[in-house]
Amino acid sequence: MSDPTGNANTDTSSALDNLLAENRTFPPSAEFAEQANLGAEAYQRAEDDPDGFWREQAERLTWATPFTQVLDWSDKPHAKWFADGKLNVAVNCVDRHVDAGLGERVAIHWEGEPGDSRTITYAELQREVCKTANALLSLGLQTGDRVAIYLPMIPEAVFSILACARLGMPHTVIFGGFSAEAIRSRVADSEAKLVITADGQYRRGAAVSLKEAVDVAAEAPDSTVRNVLVVNRTGYQVAWHDRDVWWHELVDSQPDQHEAEAFDAENPLFLLYTSGTTGKPKGILHTSGGYLTQVAYTHQVVFDLKPETDVFWCTADIGWVTGHSYIVYGPLANGATEVIYEGTPNSPHEGRHWEIIDKYGVTIYYTAPTLIRTFMKWGAEIPAKYDLGSLRVLGSVGEPINPEAWIWYRHHIGHDRTPIVDTWWQTETGAIMISPLPGVTACKPGSAMTPLPGISAKVVNDEGQPVGRGGGGYLIVDRPWPSMLRTIWGDDERFTDTYWSRFAEQGYYFAGDGAKLDDDGALWVLGRVDDVMNVSGHRISTTEVESALVSHASVAESAVVGASDPMTGQGIVAFVILRGVELPERGSDAEKALVDDLRNHVATQIGPIAKPRQILLVPELPKTRSGKIMRRLLRDVAEGRDLGDVTTLQDAGVMALINSGLGGTKS
Ligand code: WTA
Repeated sequence: MSDPTGNANTDTSSALDNLLAENRTFPPSAEFAEQANLGAEAYQRAEDDPDGFWREQAERLTWATPFTQVLDWSDKPHAKWFADGKLNVAVNCVDRHVDAGLGERVAIHWEGEPGDSRTITYAELQREVCKTANALLSLGLQTGDRVAIYLPMIPEAVFSILACARLGMPHTVIFGGFSAEAIRSRVADSEAKLVITADGQYRRGAAVSLKEAVDVAAEAPDSTVRNVLVVNRTGYQVAWHDRDVWWHELVDSQPDQHEAEAFDAENPLFLLYTSGTTGKPKGILHTSGGYLTQVAYTHQVVFDLKPETDVFWCTADIGWVTGHSYIVYGPLANGATEVIYEGTPNSPHEGRHWEIIDKYGVTIYYTAPTLIRTFMKWGAEIPAKYDLGSLRVLGSVGEPINPEAWIWYRHHIGHDRTPIVDTWWQTETGAIMISPLPGVTACKPGSAMTPLPGISAKVVNDEGQPVGRGGGGYLIVDRPWPSMLRTIWGDDERFTDTYWSRFAEQGYYFAGDGAKLDDDGALWVLGRVDDVMNVSGHRISTTEVESALVSHASVAESAVVGASDPMTGQGIVAFVILRGVELPERGSDAEKALVDDLRNHVATQIGPIAKPRQILLVPELPKTRSGKIMRRLLRDVAEGRDLGDVTTLQDAGVMALINSGLGGTKS
């Protein structure tokens, strides 16, 4: 197996302390290993000849003009992959499967929140994508024009994305929970001419407005929007303008055939905005051939996809990169059958996901730690009511998964049979980078384990030197990869500054995560380095303290921050959500006893240095809309400051709840 470590470590120059030790390992069963899509030999093969390895992966795709060169890295940090090849991404995701006689295979089992459903075969998907492409052309759009997509999780979102890909019009999908201002700034930055939206969307059983926010954005003085294409999803009352067109009036009457053109491998495929450290979101640019190669490869090997028999389900929203890569492009390029679910996991009841797995016989389930911890809080008796016997691979993405959440997931969802792949990657990396291979890796709960074959990543110290086993530091990628971002839209300088300047001398890509290597060389992602705490000179990762807390039987979830402390520089403050026990009354003896118990638990798990100064028992935690904990807000609370901007919170009421519990802090 490739070893990202270099040598055994006795090093004292770690940029991050290594505290939590985890020795449980879970190798795949012999039966699983035997039938797995990729074996252990791939690591060495890819290491010996990375270009040859990626050439082989790119040959999964259908090229209209085959490429001759794999990688051109002469203009660092701007890579070109397969640059003289031509392909059409949508043809690769749809038409070629129909041409191969698989038109009747189900591409999408779509499940609406109110309980309606639709089954879409590859032949039907081809017709829908062609009609949508013809509709975009009828609006006067041309190759290269940008299209913004602001839709719920409905089939039209997939049709729109693939129609854009088919026509070489870069799409920018905007998450359906974002505000008018978020749409306005993204449309302005991308200069989109068309926005595709819906009248409304379902949220926990009720129809709520969607188009209104687009109307506000389209009225902005700098708006480039010429048309708004509107799906009638909920019957929500909408205002109507000259620029608006109903989907069912325009798209449904279009011819269902369209001749696709092949584009250069480096043709832009999409922009996806992600928040940066400054207010202005970054438009991450992905291109075609390299991106599709790596999403197809990773989807096939990390999830061990068998397209003839598997039913894949990625629960992410299509507005996040996970939805782009593992709902749209990866699964469809591989001819998979997948589930897409429109709604929230507790609508109309907390067993909805398990009901869907049972209904469609889902075999591969890919979700986020935040959701797993929510399921833990709701209780194991809920999944126990459903037949989950079809599951054979589980996945996790988006945050470090706490070891106890991993164990819970494996036991209560995977029934101790299924491998779990903890996949590390980013909007910027486009596809999975670090993950177990389910048929090879003996997994440790909470570790993403090793870079995939073809990928080279390391943990380095402040000077850029590998920390070696037992050390902690910065997670970097030291070799280009096919699905890497190509630039930030309209701001190439920011691209170089943000990702390539920290280790410019070494030419490493660094995008903000801390990590450590354990004594066996397994890699543990420790969260954003901005979140690292400094307690009496020890650099402690919030993730490790959070995982120690979650390993206590009464804790479902926790968020840890460093608050300034006159004695120690920073003191550790933990916010904790309980499971299986009532929230004790504030100030009661029961509360004190539990808090003491939790503090001591952390001290025994990882050492007295990490014992929290303060633990607050709370009913909820502030999270971004993609489910990541907003530690900045908790730091404000912990340091008694006024709260800054809370508009990107999933639930703005959460901070009021936490504050009222604390008594002191103003909001
Ligand atoms: C975090 C999501 C630990 C990390 C695909 C990264 C993870 C950021 C993991 C990117 C994981 C993602 N273990 N941390 N398995 N996966 N992260 O752009 O901090 O929404 O930098 O992409 O999520 O988030 P993004």
